[in-house]
Amino acid sequence: MRQEAIRLLQSGKTVVLVPTMGYLHEGHLALMREGQKHGDALIVSIFVNPKQFGPAEDLQRYPRDLDRDMTLAESVGVDVVFAPEARAMYEEGFQTHVDLELLPRHLCGPSRPNHFRGVATVVAKLFNIMRPQVAIFGEKDYQQLAIIRCMVRDLSFGTRIIGVPTVREPDGLAMSTRNTYLSEDERRSALSLSESLQQAQKAVAEGISDSADLTRSTSGLIGSYPHTRIDYVALCDPDTLEEVDRVDGPTLMALAVRVGGTRLIDNAILKPIED
Ligand code: PAF
Repeated sequence: MRQEAIRLLQSGKTVVLVPTMGYLHEGHLALMREGQKHGDALIVSIFVNPKQFGPAEDLQRYPRDLDRDMTLAESVGVDVVFAPEARAMYEEGFQTHVDLELLPRHLCGPSRPNHFRGVATVVAKLFNIMRPQVAIFGEKDYQQLAIIRCMVRDLSFGTRIIGVPTVREPDGLAMSTRNTYLSEDERRSALSLSESLQQAQKAVAEGISDSADLTRSTSGLIGSYPHTRIDYVALCDPDTLEEVDRVDGPTLMALAVRVGGTRLIDNAILKPIED
């Protein structure tokens, strides 16, 4: 892969990377279509990264279908698919990791220890292998995107990071590979995430700014659906991810909810009315 990347670079191409864990859906294809706009050699990596899964998480169960992924990638004009084996990415004796100090302390960090260390490490490796000028990530994984932007800045990767808005099903559910785990009943309850974000957006637009009030009504709505268990409902600074008491400017509302056995996340930037 490195030789192919060097060849592309030497032939004057702008290399764009879309890192994924495969089992592609319309959300991934939107990242690839965005990628097309920013360069002329589009690489997609497909790698279910064991380092970002906790011991009790769904690494074994995570859906995989490389043939289907290849067909989908080809349909949107991807030039190269890089799908390494885990033992090629993490050779015996592997011991170097990328750890960020502050951003992983918030939101998903406490309930998924080492997750972001796994993400930052694999993305750093992918960047070192392919040296992309541009890389594309989804805004659904807001904290991941913030962490990658910070890592790229701190470690001077020189890769331009582009975030793409969340792609949703017609009824509002944010697209995610993990939606495939949901039963019909759970699928209905999963709508509580997007619905409560909309409710919060409306409340903020109507002048409600107290974080405690907003999180209480959001938790109430999610809890009114069966099969839901809230991991967090947070209002935070969109850059530092630190929690805020009031929505005085653009504020990130981030949610993580277990629906049945599936942990789902979603988020929105809430904007108060201008004075
Ligand atoms: O968002 C994902 O699919 C993964 O976390 C990523 C960025 C491909 C790293 O494994």
